Amino acid sequence: MFRRATYADADDMAKIYNQAMKPDTFALSQIAPDTPNERVAWLREHQDPFPAFVYEIENSKVIGWCSLSRFSVRPEYTDVAETSRYIDENHRGKGLGKLMLSHLVEAATNLGFRLLVLRSYERNTRSLRSANPFFRRVAVLHEAACIQGEWHNDVWLWKKLR
Ligand SMILES: CC(C)(COP(=O)(O)OP(=O)(O)OC[C@H]1O[C@@H](n2cnc3c(N)ncnc32)[C@H](O)[C@@H]1OP(=O)(O)O)[C@@H](O)C(=O)NCCC(=O)NCCS
Repeated sequence: MFRRATYADADDMAKIYNQAMKPDTFALSQIAPDTPNERVAWLREHQDPFPAFVYEIENSKVIGWCSLSRFSVRPEYTDVAETSRYIDENHRGKGLGKLMLSHLVEAATNLGFRLLVLRSYERNTRSLRSANPFFRRVAVLHEAACIQGEWHNDVWLWKKLR
């Protein structure tokens, strides 16, 4: 089940995020891994209207998290939020990513957002395929990101909520 992320989730969230740095995942190009302290600071900024959620299974085990973030600091974009999702590597490819998007769409709608944006590297096929039922592909920034010395295309997906 989904619940709001709390500071006590920072360790689990950092661990799951850092798994996404593995080379064959094509999700992140971070050089320094996330730390629980950095995740606490990030959580401090993820209050409404930009919430973070964790997904818990039995024994309160957290196996993933997702969030809405500010798309731009410019005032004309206040109705737009960006989605993020990170799932423990042992629980990917089983539909949780789609469940997260459905949860984020509902949360964003309730919070009054007008548009959602999802960005993904083109080689992150799991991310793009799981977003397919919800989002429309609207732009590609070719060779925008360098991961381990290789240039990657940055795909932008869009969903209109109202
Ligand atoms: C991206 C992520 C959130 C997607 O969640 P998920 O639970 O794995 O995805 P789902 O099970 O909902 O959907 C996966 C889709 O990819 C397909 N898939 C499954 N395993 C795959 C694999 N090894 N390679 C490519 N596609 C795969 C599935 O068939 C499904 O597509 P379909 O619905 O057309 O059949 C998750 O994989 C993850 O946390 N990855 C690491 C972090 C990350 O990349 N975050 C996103 C940054 S943009």
